[in-house]
Amino acid sequence: GKPGNKGARGLRFAPVAPNTNDAVTIPEGYGQNIVIRWGEPILRGAPAFDPDNQTAKAQAGQFGYNCDFLALLPLPGERNRQILVANHEYTDEVLMFRDYDEDNPTREQVEIAWAAHGLSAVVVEGDRRTGKLTPVPRHHLNRRVTATTEFRLTGPVAGSDLVKTSADPNGTKVLGTLNDCAGGVTPWGTTLHGEENFNQYFANASRTTDKRYGMPTGGSDRKWELFDKRFDVAQEPNEPHRFGYVVEFDPYDPTSTPRKHTALGRFKHEGATVRLTHDGRPVVYSGDDERFDYFYKFVGSKRMKKGYSRAVREHNLSLLDEGTLYVAKLTGDSPAIEIDGTGKLPRDGEFDGSGEWIPLATATADGAVSHVEGMTAEEVFVFTRLAGDKVGATKMDRPEDIEPNPHTGKVYLALTNNSARGVGSNAKPDEANPRNANKHGQVLELTERWNRADSTKFAWSLFLVAGDPEDPATYFAGFPKDQVSPISCPDNVAFDRYGNLWISTDGNSLGFHDGLFGVATRGDRRGELKQFLSVPIGAETCGPIIQERRVLVAVQHPGEVDGATAEKPLSAWPDGPGKLNRPAVVAVWRKDGCDVGA
Ligand code: FEO
Ligand code: CA
Ligand code: CA
Ligand code: CA
Repeated sequence: GKPGNKGARGLRFAPVAPNTNDAVTIPEGYGQNIVIRWGEPILRGAPAFDPDNQTAKAQAGQFGYNCDFLALLPLPGERNRQILVANHEYTDEVLMFRDYDEDNPTREQVEIAWAAHGLSAVVVEGDRRTGKLTPVPRHHLNRRVTATTEFRLTGPVAGSDLVKTSADPNGTKVLGTLNDCAGGVTPWGTTLHGEENFNQYFANASRTTDKRYGMPTGGSDRKWELFDKRFDVAQEPNEPHRFGYVVEFDPYDPTSTPRKHTALGRFKHEGATVRLTHDGRPVVYSGDDERFDYFYKFVGSKRMKKGYSRAVREHNLSLLDEGTLYVAKLTGDSPAIEIDGTGKLPRDGEFDGSGEWIPLATATADGAVSHVEGMTAEEVFVFTRLAGDKVGATKMDRPEDIEPNPHTGKVYLALTNNSARGVGSNAKPDEANPRNANKHGQVLELTERWNRADSTKFAWSLFLVAGDPEDPATYFAGFPKDQVSPISCPDNVAFDRYGNLWISTDGNSLGFHDGLFGVATRGDRRGELKQFLSVPIGAETCGPIIQERRVLVAVQHPGEVDGATAEKPLSAWPDGPGKLNRPAVVAVWRKDGCDVGA
């Protein structure tokens, strides 16, 4: 039968058909509004967006470019208001500036790009009758963090020789955050942000360690090294060692200095999400988004405290500085011969097996200890990928977002794709990454032993093997495949209040636009996946938040397709034909005022 308005609780909507609409397409009976878009003023004194007179000063008070992760935090005492925190992952100058010359960017353009990176915090107000959400400009909690904001380096690497620079001889003060992709909200009311593809901002990198992180040996694409020598590795060799961390931000204190927590390791952190142990210690999961790279967890040794005093807040902001960093190793339980990437299910009917968390290093108040032969603890935390290589961690198909289900504790990891799997001398398919030249990705479900967040052993199975359901290589947790939506390239994951998993995609290779999907994780509808929305030309779907009344998505890089420029945009979203494309946050709600999917 065709999927209709039925479904698990929270997923009762008529699915959106795969499409190539240059619009945000939503289910029948739902409405939408643009909450905020690139360039809208949020700070006091910031001007309205003027595409032909952009300045770095204006941008520093306006919503940044390419919104990715989104968080909504409660704002007690202000009716119908919440704090929206958004990541601004990267800039696409060709789509931002009508007069951009890739070989000769101007200083102003470069400084606009610095100011368009980072984070925005902006208070938003909900409409009483609909799910519509609008910004509250000039609120005292509104804030911009950019590529030049002061950060504190904390944890085992702070003060190390590996992070000292000529501008910061103590190795504790970093300017800016770059490429913040996904993230998480902590149980103590802060947000976490993963610094992902930081390699692209640096030039002239030649060391083995630089190579392992994909840093360019020549000039960088944006040429920032010509405007600030810290981006030139030949001149400031340690500057790149100060990026690639998990950032913690306190949206309730606009004067706070955001932190980079080195105990969570340095790699292309897609994001970071927290689950507490039974005795209140934080466990943080994080994927390293690269083909054949690893996923990790950090187990903190200090307990979270409850309360709102300054002392409690300061204690909780130090929780991620002491603990042990682990990397995942997975073993399948079916004969290797069956995992040949042809789409056959393994003989036992499931892609599944066991796994272990291999300790890499432990950070304590008195110093740090390495568990990896031949590497110091500081080296493990700065060159974490090399530590993973040494201990034989499992090479995955691009670990993107990873998030524990608050209802069950099971952890879901999006593996977005890996076109190089099995190609040439590359790693062959295995039971967790079962396809050669994997175009569509998979979602892995991980169950910690005894369901304890700090276990060092786990069981895992593939929850979804993405693609066109008619493709025999796909799998939807055993649910009948004639009743699910096609899905390709899972990226961000989130949960609704019923424990359904929501998945946004980046890079759909089925010929349709990216979108947002919901899927039941429990009960007899487990695996029933339905598309909730799709995004315009060139965009990826990011930052999903599923609230009772509304769904929020970040429409990242609309119009980013080959040949598109600011002069000749190839998408008309959101402001109409010929206008600059503007990455934006969109809210979707039910027109009849009922809960989403109820
Ligand atoms: Fe920024 Fe891995 O997506
Ligand atoms: Ca198996
Ligand atoms: Ca992502
Ligand atoms: Ca992605």
